[in-house]
Amino acid sequence: MWFSSSFACVAVALSLLRSCNAINILMSNDDGFASANLRQLFNILTGAGHNVYVVAPVIGQSGQGGRVIFTSEANLTGPSQYGLIPTGAPSIGSDPAHDHIFYYNGTPAACIFVALDYVLPTFADFAVPDLVLSGPNYGTNLGPSIWSLSGTAGAAYTATARSIPAIALSGSNTDLPYFAVDGPEHDAHRVALASFRVVQAIIQSTPRGQPIFPLGYGANVNIPPLSSNQTSLPIVQTRMTGGAEVDVAVPGKTPGTFTWANMSPRARGLNKCINGDCNLPGETQVVAAGKIALSLYTIDYTAPAGSKTASLMQRIAVRFSDLMARR
Ligand SMILES: *[C@@H]1O[C@H](CO)[C@@H](O)[C@H](O)[C@H]1NC(C)=O
Ligand SMILES: *[C@@H]1O[C@H](CO)[C@@H](O)[C@H](O)[C@H]1NC(C)=O
Repeated sequence: MWFSSSFACVAVALSLLRSCNAINILMSNDDGFASANLRQLFNILTGAGHNVYVVAPVIGQSGQGGRVIFTSEANLTGPSQYGLIPTGAPSIGSDPAHDHIFYYNGTPAACIFVALDYVLPTFADFAVPDLVLSGPNYGTNLGPSIWSLSGTAGAAYTATARSIPAIALSGSNTDLPYFAVDGPEHDAHRVALASFRVVQAIIQSTPRGQPIFPLGYGANVNIPPLSSNQTSLPIVQTRMTGGAEVDVAVPGKTPGTFTWANMSPRARGLNKCINGDCNLPGETQVVAAGKIALSLYTIDYTAPAGSKTASLMQRIAVRFSDLMARR
């Protein structure tokens, strides 16, 4: 039902075949430019005819959320992920083996800015991407707290803020160098295939010349563990709240140190449905049930209009005549 309008593309494809909705895609992630998940999806998207560039962190940058950290060093002060780029190389450059794949010594959100404002404008065939893909991450990104915790989510949100449709993609597999993927049975390939299935359906459902998402909208896609040949799992429209986990601080072995654990029972604050359709299942619950979760998000965190917002503001405004005057 979700992707029924993709038939429009099939009709077009009969005459235009491979060029059907081939688009410009910028990829990034928080696991690093040599991530197996990222490279596998890059290969599949490129193979499907899309024009894809990657600008991703030179080393793993998980957990950065939307932080924007640009390096102050001209050159790398240590080797890149898996030693692919040596210490002393420029802080930004392309992979020697792939002229469409760039590394940058910054956070995922910084990579998006550097891509949009520095790397992509140098390619005449590209300029502004039609779509930004972040990931697929090693490990799921579930629930609203990903916006401050996940570099994968941070890169997607940054692209949305820059008016570009974006999809955060996360799998349930573990990290691996891209050159260790030795066949289609590999986890990273399965996660990339499952991601491609969702992304390609969204692309193909988009009427020609129209943006992939309305302005300020994006999507968060999470893929459960995939056993053999499960890349065609059901896709469920979800909401970000509902069964989501939030951390508690747990004292470590050394006094004064802490680590984290999932709060139990789950926090009500994180799981309060405020925006969107509250009848949708939570993405956390859907992935736990072994299905692919697709949550649409919007860039606007503003509390919705309604009696709660109105009465809260009325309560505050009583103390401020100028606030009252504005209402
Ligand atoms: C960075 O490396 C280049 C050579 O690749 C060198 O010319 C330059 O001086 C280096 N910059 C700094 C600040 O070390
Ligand atoms: C999975 O699919 C591949 C082809 O895509 C096939 O070669 C392989 O035998 C399948 N494995 C199972 C367990 O069905």
